[in-house]
Amino acid sequence: MGRLDGKVAIVVGAGQAPGEGLGNGRAAALRFAEEGAKVLLVDRIGASAEETRAEIETRGGTASVIEANIAKEAECEAISRTCLERYGRIDILHNNVGIGHPKDQHAANMDEEVWDRIYAVNVKGIVMASKYAIQPMREQKSGVILNISSIASICTPPGLLAYKSSKAALNAFTQHAALKYAKDGIRVNAILPGLIETPMATQEHVPEEERAKRNEIRNQAVPLGRKMGSAWDIANAALFLASDEARFITGVLLPVDGGQSARVG
Ligand SMILES: NC(=O)c1ccc[n+]([C@@H]2O[C@H](COP(=O)([O-])OP(=O)(O)OC[C@H]3O[C@@H](n4cnc5c(N)ncnc54)[C@H](O)[C@@H]3O)[C@@H](O)[C@H]2O)c1
Repeated sequence: MGRLDGKVAIVVGAGQAPGEGLGNGRAAALRFAEEGAKVLLVDRIGASAEETRAEIETRGGTASVIEANIAKEAECEAISRTCLERYGRIDILHNNVGIGHPKDQHAANMDEEVWDRIYAVNVKGIVMASKYAIQPMREQKSGVILNISSIASICTPPGLLAYKSSKAALNAFTQHAALKYAKDGIRVNAILPGLIETPMATQEHVPEEERAKRNEIRNQAVPLGRKMGSAWDIANAALFLASDEARFITGVLLPVDGGQSARVG
């Protein structure tokens, strides 16, 4: 018996940044499929989602791909429509997409284009992707929405103002939607990853000669084991929240961070 037997999941951001290792979206898609869900894999880069599909099928799971950019509302509509056409229902919407930008720093030097781009994806994109999944979930009288936020939303990194505030907006959306759709049987929760060893975090925009030092700094910042988490840590939390084991949990902002956000001072 799988923990998600009979369920249909959409994983948005089911590919991953190029590089070595495992991203959060791919790990969640693999876990969901392993536990019996049929998974619609969505990514702006279709080829990356196809790699996830191949891995799921190698392990005996069921998945298919749609290439879509959630910054465009029409493509968000197409995601839910495609899921209903292929699988007949939507039980889980896993909103993994989140972007940052090397020029995202602080208010006094904020670049308008960088701000708009981050908000178009991290806030508007997630709300629009959810908009089209909520209606079928309401008709089913059940559903789970999981938003991948970040502990940056509740801690204060030195830069990253647009990223931090966009993830705080995602937390606000999570709580708002949890209360609004509770009567429809829809649960909405957020996971706040801490420092996770994904290709995006350890390799993208990081020159090769700086990677070892940066990884060591990231490891040392984690109270539990002085080691970054892995994408499986995020996927395991997502699996629990997506499953019926979490049937009484909604509106929660769950840090998965090795204790980092518990530190004050
Ligand atoms: N890795 C970390 O340390 C860390 C920490 C905190 C939070 N997070 C969050 O975890 C999530 C995933 O992180 P990751 O490290 O696996 O990143 P990743 O970049 O490898 O994965 C994100 C995926 O989303 C896709 N994507 C980006 N923009 C898109 C769009 N507009 N439409 C559709 N797909 C789009 C990308 O192509 C990529 O495949 C993000 O929300 C990130 O903010 C990560």
